[in-house]
Amino acid sequence: MNKKEGHVFVWPIGTRIIHWLMALSFTAAFITSYYEYMLHDHVAFGFIFLTIIIYRIIWGLIGPEYARFKTFKLKPSQLKFYFVEKIQNRWRKIPAGHNPASSWFTVWALGMGTVIVVSGLLLYGIQEGKGLFRDLNSDYSDYMFILDMVHKYASYIFAAWVVIHIVGVMIEQFWHKTNMVFAMVTGYKRTEGRDTKVKPLLSFFSYMMIVIAIGTYFFIVSSNYNFLTLQKYTNVDYEAKHAAFYNECGDCHKVYPPYMLPKRSWQKIMAGLDNHRGEEITEANITKSQQTSILEFLIQNAAETSKREAAVKVMHSLGEIRPKAITKTPYWRATHKDIPKYVYKQKKIKDKSNCIACHKDFEHGNLDDMNIIYRP
Ligand code: HEC
Ligand code: HEC
Repeated sequence: MNKKEGHVFVWPIGTRIIHWLMALSFTAAFITSYYEYMLHDHVAFGFIFLTIIIYRIIWGLIGPEYARFKTFKLKPSQLKFYFVEKIQNRWRKIPAGHNPASSWFTVWALGMGTVIVVSGLLLYGIQEGKGLFRDLNSDYSDYMFILDMVHKYASYIFAAWVVIHIVGVMIEQFWHKTNMVFAMVTGYKRTEGRDTKVKPLLSFFSYMMIVIAIGTYFFIVSSNYNFLTLQKYTNVDYEAKHAAFYNECGDCHKVYPPYMLPKRSWQKIMAGLDNHRGEEITEANITKSQQTSILEFLIQNAAETSKREAAVKVMHSLGEIRPKAITKTPYWRATHKDIPKYVYKQKKIKDKSNCIACHKDFEHGNLDDMNIIYRP
């Protein structure tokens, strides 16, 4: 091995790739989480992150010397000593493996990482009705905002941790001049100790996990219907379910899914058909018995009866009010607040009530994030 004097080979290529994959997947998942329509990508990056968390835990148990939890310096006294020495700039030599600060960092990151992926998978199942835990959606309730908070704040903590980590490495690089940044690039640290050696079987395990992580990413982005992404809800055939509803209420606009409004709203809408958004709908258009039957259908499938994310969140946002339009619910306003007004004025859209212009499978009652066309 051609190596420089005073350098020790500490991070094998597998470890380095995994370190950067983790950094990349976390950052990408963090950014995509801000966009509802990017949920699919968010989940795909989350799975890279998940695979790597699992890998790192196994690696800490069976991996090479410097990666093992056994060699971590976790005593508070060691941490204190480390920082005192560091601040006084006396300690110019960095340990070959994890120093006390990075030992703590890794343990924390793995802990938070586990919380993030577990809560994320549960949220995907319970709230979105998607993925491995889609059947848990039947337990979806208002209280799930707690899970949402756990997922969110764990990732904020993780992000803050990343910033601290970067600051620490920068201090090493520029103040203590230990050239730490390049250790994760070249694998060599300027320190003393033995070179790390990875057994072929362990190397193979690293490469396998890298392949699995990246493979899972592509598996997810390539399909909305495989076992990791499948939604519990399939397209609804409203025509088959209730022909009069589909035909009569779908005459001027596509039918609005009954689960988007509560019972009382549907009652108000049906009671006010003579002045329905400026249109006069009479018994000549929709017969009395059809109207009764449509109302019954709407009530049977109203927001109160559904565990879809939109239904639960609409109900939660409404409180006591019962508006006559979906676009008047606080939930709808909140989810669409970032869309500039001019977008609705485009020819293809015309009106904010024209949901199908942006929600591909809207007429099948499917408002899955995956079906949002962001730039119509
Ligand atoms: C004669 C045409 C016509 C028929 C028939 C009709 N609607 Fe409408 N409806 C409208 C118009 C116009 C709007 C305003 C939004 C738009 O331009 O699409 C509207 C809006 C709505 C909205 C509010 C959408 C929003 O902005 O959140 C609901 C809900 C709705 N209709 C339900 C129904 C139901 C239920 C029926 C069947 C009983 C029905 N409509 C039949 C013309 C019609
Ligand atoms: C101009 C395009 C546009 C129109 C028109 C529109 N939406 Fe949306 N809708 C979006 C976008 C974009 C998002 C995702 C916002 C985000 O990233 O947070 C969204 C989000 C949603 C969500 C939340 C999805 C989720 O899983 O959290 C629901 C529910 C929804 N829209 C329903 C409707 C309904 C019902 C209508 C018609 C009354 C409608 N939208 C009209 C673009 C549109």
